[in-house]
Amino acid sequence: MSRLFEPWSLGTLSLPNRIVIAPMCQYSAEEGSATDWHLVHLGHLALSGAGMLIVEATAVTPEGRISPQDLGLYSDANEAALARVLKVVRAHSPIRMAIQISHAGRKASSRPPWEHGTQIHPHEPGGWKTLAPSAVPHSDGEDVPEPLDLAGLQRLREAFVATALRAVRLGFDGIEIHGAHGYLLHQFLSPLANERVDAYGGSRENRMRFPLEVFDAVRAAVPAQVPVWMRISATDWVPGGWDIEGTVALSQLLKTRGCAAIHVTTGGVSPAQAIKLGPGYQVPYAQRVKAEVGLPTLAVGLITEPEQAESIIANGEADAVSLARAMLYDPRWPWHAAAKLGAHVSAPKQYWRSQPRQYKDLFEGARFGQR
Ligand SMILES: Cc1cc2nc3c(=O)[nH]c(=O)nc-3n(C[C@H](O)[C@H](O)[C@H](O)COP(=O)(O)O)c2cc1C
Repeated sequence: MSRLFEPWSLGTLSLPNRIVIAPMCQYSAEEGSATDWHLVHLGHLALSGAGMLIVEATAVTPEGRISPQDLGLYSDANEAALARVLKVVRAHSPIRMAIQISHAGRKASSRPPWEHGTQIHPHEPGGWKTLAPSAVPHSDGEDVPEPLDLAGLQRLREAFVATALRAVRLGFDGIEIHGAHGYLLHQFLSPLANERVDAYGGSRENRMRFPLEVFDAVRAAVPAQVPVWMRISATDWVPGGWDIEGTVALSQLLKTRGCAAIHVTTGGVSPAQAIKLGPGYQVPYAQRVKAEVGLPTLAVGLITEPEQAESIIANGEADAVSLARAMLYDPRWPWHAAAKLGAHVSAPKQYWRSQPRQYKDLFEGARFGQR
């Protein structure tokens, strides 16, 4: 019996297996609104058999977008465009749909990766002045962000709530708050980006204040049956940066505030990061959060093989595995994993006839015949 294909619960949300599609920016929106690309991209991933699909980092304000082509959920037009995508996905797939809500802070106003991902200076076409905890740029030579004042923090808390409420109206099954990869909430957590001298900077307690306020505001606004959780970078991979001890402390506080899970990733706040890459390289961080905090954890990062994913779950290192690149490379990854591990997976009835002879029970409920 495969543990990867065992059902589990993310707060009040039940999931048929422990495979999650990680959020992945597509840089293909127009004025924050989803396009036909999102219909195709999310539509085909929704047929994968994964338990949950987390929609890409979705900005809570226009200036919170990483790139001008980022998805947003700050206007009625954005909401209508995503509603169209969700309607199609829902019509053809039972997959649980979550959304990652985000503000990029000083890493906003960037070009997409295929245009080198560099900063668009505010005086260049399409660029804008970025906001951050402190007037510290992400990299030397980049435009200096504008530090947020208290009114700015209030506006952003409200923006996170407004976006979360739009997500609830759209019928999303869960909300992930992006507290990782060097974006705004991570910038508050990390002493490498946060040089504030008010109640939002200095001590670890102060640096955690704004991310916790955002979490509290979103959790309070969203109906209890919709789980809310956070993605956290467990380490900056830079001496003197945010670290696993801070991550455990933050996760403990989030737990007492009704956080459903922690999606454990690393890095992103500093170009000086020295990441030790390898298969499952971030899993030990998820394991530590799970063991010390007791919240469900999602492990991510170079999880590519079914047996590897199975052993992460079977050994209790995490409650779910989250896959990004492997799912783009092979959108039927969960089917192949189920076949390898002797499990069953949901597939659209239109594709049932593709079930290989040697895997007679692979697709749940599959039956086919003809005259
Ligand atoms: C194309 C692409 C877009 C990504 N966009 C996001 C994003 O929107 N939000 C996020 O938290 N991480 C994002 N990531 C990071 C992934 O979610 C994941 O953490 C990372 O790729 C490591 O997992 P992997 O080894 O399975 O790819 C992105 C990664 C890729 C490859």
